[in-house]
Amino acid sequence: MPSAFYQARLAARQVMKKLLHLPRDWIRKVRRAGRQHFFPALVTRDGSLKLPPALLLDSVFRASRGGRMKLFRRLIPYLSAPAPASSTGVCEINSLAEFESGYARLAVMLGHAGKTPPPGEIEFLRTIVNRPLHYSGAIGPSDYFFLTAFVGILAPQRVVEIGTLTGFSAAIIAATLRRQPGDGWVDTIDLLPKCFIDETRPTGFEIAESFPELASMIRLHVPHDSTVMSELAEPDELEIVFIDANHQHPLPLLDLLRLAPYVRRGGWIVLHDIQLGTKGRKANAADQICWGAAEGAEWLFESWPFRKISGGNIGAVQLPNEKSALIPFALRLMSVPYEIKGKGAHAAMHGALHRSFDALV
Ligand SMILES: C[S@@+](CC[C@H](N)C(=O)[O-])C[C@H]1O[C@@H](n2cnc3c(N)ncnc32)[C@H](O)[C@@H]1O
Repeated sequence: MPSAFYQARLAARQVMKKLLHLPRDWIRKVRRAGRQHFFPALVTRDGSLKLPPALLLDSVFRASRGGRMKLFRRLIPYLSAPAPASSTGVCEINSLAEFESGYARLAVMLGHAGKTPPPGEIEFLRTIVNRPLHYSGAIGPSDYFFLTAFVGILAPQRVVEIGTLTGFSAAIIAATLRRQPGDGWVDTIDLLPKCFIDETRPTGFEIAESFPELASMIRLHVPHDSTVMSELAEPDELEIVFIDANHQHPLPLLDLLRLAPYVRRGGWIVLHDIQLGTKGRKANAADQICWGAAEGAEWLFESWPFRKISGGNIGAVQLPNEKSALIPFALRLMSVPYEIKGKGAHAAMHGALHRSFDALV
């Protein structure tokens, strides 16, 4: 049994320890209060562009040395909230029978009233609808009706896609470009060299297997992510890009911010799985399983403060004329807790998002 002397020494040591920790705990408390006061947790995806001064200063502080003054000047106007020119159109095309009328409606929305599907488009889509094959993770019929109409109406020279998987959506885009004037092509980017759903095959394997006639129009960039854009396009060059990669918040936002410098003002970014979060929540409520029900693409589309068009689970957001307006929007969305997990992932993602601002000012 420990002696009374030993017990007294132990008690004294504990009291000393507590006393020594008091200043440290007090400093932590003060710091926490300071952070809450100066960096209010916005946790908002309300689409507003108004920036609290502390968020502005924080992002200027994180900017590269050479870019700080420029960023500061660009963000100052957002201290008072300019009203974003927001409007949402809806154009869902849920069956092949609706394709022509949906195409006509979308053409009006995109400023090309009177444009109709070129010869062979509907027949091609019919072969796709009747295909017995559908790989999990690839876009579905209402998505490819919308994507075909969108790309066909704007008829750009080329489209960049992030998220290849089997290559199905890249082939859909290429098939559309083939029916338009010019020698169009698709650049498709994927992080994985082996296909995410079948590691025995390479990413993009369907292009050669199912669409050999389109293979020469599709350039595969693996293993890469959206950082490869600087090697693929000139600033302000593109009219349409398609994002269908990792949907966990804030990755769709990061992909969009990295692509935006290469998209012209008023150009479009098509986003897939903009209802994935809702689908997941409904499945949960019904005790069903919905794999990978990430919210990132849905939050990005929902809170987009500029013009956008919903096609159901796919949608397109239009870049504003002033690309720096994406920064206050991004900062607000970045205050919504991230879905990506892993040691250091939050800090790495936050840093990457802040670095992406440089090319927008
Ligand atoms: C939903 S699938 C794409 C489906 C394809 N667009 C289609 O409809 O045929 C997502 C793909 O994105 C890739 N991916 C995941 N994270 C990525 C990232 N950060 N950058 C590029 N690709 C990524 C995955 O390897 C996967 O092949």
